[in-house]
Amino acid sequence: MASELRVGVIGVGMMGADHAERLVTRTAGARLVAVSDPDTARAAELASRYDGVRSVGDPLELIADDGVDAVVIASPGFVHEEQVLACIEHRTYALCEKPLTMDAESSLRIVEAEAAAGPPLVQVGFMRRFDPEYAAMKAMLDSGQLGRTLLLHNTHRNKAVPESFRSEMIVRDSLVHEVDVARFLFGEEITEITVLAPAPTGVAAEGVLDPQVALFRMAGGGMATTEVFVNCQVGYEVRCEAVAERGTVVAGRNSTGLYSTVADDHGGYWGGQVPPDFRARFARAYDLEVQAWVDASRRGEVVGPSTWDGYAATAVCTAGMESLATGQPVKVQLAERTALLDGARR
Ligand SMILES: NC(=O)c1ccc[n+]([C@@H]2O[C@H](COP(=O)([O-])OP(=O)(O)OC[C@H]3O[C@@H](n4cnc5c(N)ncnc54)[C@H](O)[C@@H]3O)[C@@H](O)[C@H]2O)c1
Repeated sequence: MASELRVGVIGVGMMGADHAERLVTRTAGARLVAVSDPDTARAAELASRYDGVRSVGDPLELIADDGVDAVVIASPGFVHEEQVLACIEHRTYALCEKPLTMDAESSLRIVEAEAAAGPPLVQVGFMRRFDPEYAAMKAMLDSGQLGRTLLLHNTHRNKAVPESFRSEMIVRDSLVHEVDVARFLFGEEITEITVLAPAPTGVAAEGVLDPQVALFRMAGGGMATTEVFVNCQVGYEVRCEAVAERGTVVAGRNSTGLYSTVADDHGGYWGGQVPPDFRARFARAYDLEVQAWVDASRRGEVVGPSTWDGYAATAVCTAGMESLATGQPVKVQLAERTALLDGARR
C-alpha cells in the first residue's frame, strides 16, 4: 500500500483515546479516519478533536467500511471476539488490545478463523514486547551470553483500580501481560500455573484478593514468579528480572530515567517518580507497537504477538483463574499448534 493506512479506532475509553492521539500525533504512514463507541457522545467528542475523523455508531459498520483499511480494537474484552471475527471476514487489519478474548475457547475460534481465511491479519496488544528494555532483555537472553534462562521474577503494580475490578480480572486482565512476557522471553509455552493470594490489602474492595502471586512452569523446565498488586497506592510499577546461568538482567527499574530535585512544603527532595499509570510507563512501547503495526499493515503483513500468542495467554489465564479458586496448580490445556494454525506468518 503506497498511501497512508486509513485507521479506525473501536472503543474510545482510556486506551482507545490514547491510541487515537498516538495515531494522529506521532505515527507515520497512518491517518485516523473514524472512531466508534456505544457511548456516542464520547466518540463524537473525540472525533471533533481531530480533522477529518468521523464517528460511526456501529463498530461492525466501521470494520466493514471500504474507507477503513485497519482498526485498533480497544473495546472491552468481552466484545473482542465478534469484532476480531468481523475484521477477518472483511480482510481488515486489526490491532486488538489484550486480552484477545475472555476464555480459551473463544480465542481458539479466532486463531482458527484467521488461519482458514488466508494470510494473518491480527496483532494482539501485548506491548511489553515493544518496550525498549524488554526488547533489549529478549535480545540479550537470546544471544546466549548469559547461558540458559532459569527464572523470571515479574512485578506488576497499579496505584488503584475501581471496585468492579474483581479477583479474576487481576488474572485475566493484569497477569495476562506477564503470561505473555514469560512466553516471549523463554520462547516456550507455559505448561502449569499456580495463583495464590496472601491476606489482602485493607484497601482492596470487599472480597477482592489483592495482591496475588503466580508461578508459571515453562515447557523447558524454567519457572516464572509474578506479583500482581493492583491497589498498591503508589503508582504504576512493572519490572522483570531474568535469572540465567551466568548473570541476571532487569527491565523496568525505577532508578533509570530522569534524575530530578523537587521542592515542596517540607523543603526539597531528590529522586525519580513512579509513573502514575500504564500510559506514562509504556508510552514508548505503545508508540513502537502501533508504528510497527501500521508499517506491517501497509506491507500487507502482521508482526508482533499473533492470535496464537493471544490464545495461549488466554488459555494460561483460564487455568490461572481455576488455580486462584482452588489454590492448586492447574495444567494449561492448549490445542495442538499445527502449521495451519500458525498461518503463513512464522
Ligand atoms: N495494553 C495495555 O497496557 C492496556 C491497558 C489498559 C487497557 N487495555 C485493554 O484495552 C481495552 C479497553 O480498556 P480501557 O481501559 O480503555 O477501558 P475503558 O472502560 O476505559 O474503555 C472502553 C470503551 O469501550 C466502549 N465499548 C463498550 N462496548 C463496546 C463495543 N461493543 N464496541 C466498541 N466499544 C465499546 C466503552 O463505551 C468505553 O468507551 C481492554 O481490552 C483492556 O484490557 C490494555
